[in-house]
Amino acid sequence: MHKSHSAMAAILAATLFGAGAVSAYAQEPTLRSLAEERGRYVGAILNSQWFGGGLPGDYEKIHKTQFNVVVAENEMKFDATEPQEGRFNYGNGDKMVKYAKANGMRVRGHALAWHSQVPNWVNNYKNDKKKLLAVLKNHIEKVVGHWKGQVDEWDVVNEAVSNNEPMWRSYSVWYQGIGPEFIDSAFVWAHAVDPDAELCYNDYNLEQGISPKAKAGFVLEQVKRWVANGIPITCVGSQTHVEDTTTDKHFIGSPDSLRAFARELAKLGVKLNITELDIGFKSGINVSSADLARQGRNYREYMDVFLEEPNMGTFLIWGVSDKWSWLGGLNRQKGLIYDDNLRPKPAFDSLMASLKEHPVESVVSPYKQSFIPDTTKQDTTANDSTAKDTTVKDTTTKDTTDAIMPSVARLPASLHVAGSVLHLTGMASARVDLFDMQGRPVFSAKCENGTVELKGLASGRYVVRVEQNGMVDVKNVILK
Ligand code: XIL
Repeated sequence: MHKSHSAMAAILAATLFGAGAVSAYAQEPTLRSLAEERGRYVGAILNSQWFGGGLPGDYEKIHKTQFNVVVAENEMKFDATEPQEGRFNYGNGDKMVKYAKANGMRVRGHALAWHSQVPNWVNNYKNDKKKLLAVLKNHIEKVVGHWKGQVDEWDVVNEAVSNNEPMWRSYSVWYQGIGPEFIDSAFVWAHAVDPDAELCYNDYNLEQGISPKAKAGFVLEQVKRWVANGIPITCVGSQTHVEDTTTDKHFIGSPDSLRAFARELAKLGVKLNITELDIGFKSGINVSSADLARQGRNYREYMDVFLEEPNMGTFLIWGVSDKWSWLGGLNRQKGLIYDDNLRPKPAFDSLMASLKEHPVESVVSPYKQSFIPDTTKQDTTANDSTAKDTTVKDTTTKDTTDAIMPSVARLPASLHVAGSVLHLTGMASARVDLFDMQGRPVFSAKCENGTVELKGLASGRYVVRVEQNGMVDVKNVILK
């Protein structure tokens, strides 16, 4: 029923997950070979200086053998790609993409709209909304355009939610200068440039519960609104930088919280990826072998959830060896799955065990199979309009720097679907457009007598946009 992926993504998955790809690595099972058999991606970050002999020993061999998805630690961020206004630098990112392609890996792009690692020149425009919108739009169009068809998935927006309260992060230059609509706009612009790329919202502390006060609860509400409004989001990334405090309560957050979050997102047709996992200990403490074993168990619990939830596709660790890790800056240590000498830690063995103990037949690949739970049973004339505050823009529009703004006027009428007929109550004539969950226009008609037959559409969830005399209404409907 659900067609969540583009043809390109399907071809990529088929190539990558085909028998050939597995056998090339399958002398001894590896994280990569086991993940590929299960139609999943497991990965670690990379810096362009780290391969081609940049790091000693077996680093590159390990990376190629164990992982099938890669993300640049820093080299696709705003300050790396557009250090001066309008002057783009793709060199290091290109090297990484080339490495990934040569080794049959998926590429995550990180990150387009983020408050951190933004060059100073951007701040000059923080009081000029129109200019800042143009800056963000140009950046997204150039960067996504440069790697179109090569970067499979983008973190379109990173860390836009505040840590302390369920609200947007107020000190971000994008939020201050543009307002929250920078987010909706960024997704629409990225999608217009590369309609085949998966587009994620990425953040940390999302493993800390989905109550409305928790970050993931807030994000969930936004995802509902985006999906209902046709904003082309396909995935959420949970960074999952976890600390083992070696106290009674070892971890804040839990794999089960992530599971609950994944299930809510599945209902919306959205994937959940683990994008930056590390499980570090406080700096300076002595880490015992019992601590490392517990760290391994915790890694494994995240992998268990990942494999058991059908809408989880990518499991990415923020580093390979403890020797090269950002965790020192966070006052943490030893958070990865290889030690300083590139020897696998208990965490590596735990991940392997989890993969082996989840038989291939039990794991759904969200890149190949539908993962949306069938919640349509009581919902035949679905008329759920959870979100009302944003109009759907035609996502193919390229020549505007307007933000995707909330609409003011609302139609005084209502709409519902029965069978394949859309009924508009209280209005005789209107323009009707349907969009799929990626925001692509799939149907358009002029309604003359209060009803429209929705012809030629597969069953599934759609966004309907009705327009009459400049007033717009948007609803989410399910066609049986
Ligand atoms: C970190 C990198 O690992 C560091 O090298 C850099 O100095 C700062 O950024 N969340 C993110 C990542 O989304 O981009 C961050 O990466 C880690 C936290």
